Amino acid sequence: MDEKRSQTSGLEATVRSPRLIQIDRAEPAAVRAALLDGLEAHPARVSPKYLYDALGSRLFAAICELPEYYPTRTEAAIFARHVEEIAARLPAARTLVDLGAGNCEKAARLFEPFGVRRYVAVDISVDYLRHSLDLLQRRHPAIETIGVGMDFSTHLSLPDEAGEGPRLVFYPGSSIGNFSPEEAERFLRVVHGVCKGGGLLIGVDLVKPAEVLESAYDDPLGVTAAFNRNLLLHLDRLAGTDFALADWRHVAFYDSERLRIEMHLEAVRAVVVRWPEGERRFARGERIHTENSWKWRAEDFAALLGRAGFSAIRRWSDERGWFAVFLAQA
Ligand code: AVI
Repeated sequence: MDEKRSQTSGLEATVRSPRLIQIDRAEPAAVRAALLDGLEAHPARVSPKYLYDALGSRLFAAICELPEYYPTRTEAAIFARHVEEIAARLPAARTLVDLGAGNCEKAARLFEPFGVRRYVAVDISVDYLRHSLDLLQRRHPAIETIGVGMDFSTHLSLPDEAGEGPRLVFYPGSSIGNFSPEEAERFLRVVHGVCKGGGLLIGVDLVKPAEVLESAYDDPLGVTAAFNRNLLLHLDRLAGTDFALADWRHVAFYDSERLRIEMHLEAVRAVVVRWPEGERRFARGERIHTENSWKWRAEDFAALLGRAGFSAIRRWSDERGWFAVFLAQA
């Protein structure tokens, strides 16, 4: 374990440093080719993972503070109310694997009640984790802390440094909703392999009235619109395109048959987007599909967990039945 010296109230203390491991960072040329492919498709599409550059991640954090965006605070209230009951039903796992860890705050609240000994934070890039893990390691010096940078949505396989023994995989925030039901089942099978002998603790956004959903994804302050439109600035950097923000508006609506919120960027006039070796013409009103956010019926999600190989499925929810936290054994 790497160690470094630190000054704590005038006394020298030894604090271990988190281990940071970056796995298979995508090649810029491959990223560019995939983005341009999506841009040339009819209808045009961009993977929602490109919503999260540095500014996009900050805008998402701001979304989580909005009064209309209920998932974050509803999930937090479920944990605050039921954490002891959840802890009492945990499988025997002392390693917590946090998928999409970000600032690691949600997981850190579970360290004590869950008796966590090893924390493996996974996010797209270790650069996003470095600072949060440094702070966390100081607050929890006894916990072995490991940061893993990987695109777990396409490839989830933990390095040896993540250690042996049963794991509890933590996947909060209803990020599972950004996968289609078929993709979610495939992904959860892989997760099952990662936590075999341990379990999964996952937050899931539930079906609810369209008005509630639509104001959560098209807030009056325009933060979600900024989050969506910022994708174009990220695209310009990654793919060499020349999007003009003023040409595009945010559109979000609930499809009550598919049970999903769709986010799009819509051209407000006829637009030509150019890049060094090509261009794409958009008619006024034409859209780029940027994200789907599926909402689940609790019983359908429990059945999905079962199909992915999980058992002993338990669920906690809020009084309105808007959000659910599932614990399942692998
Ligand atoms: C990260 N993910 C679960 C969010 C969601 O609700 O689908 C992303 C988001 N998109 C717009 N607002 C929030």
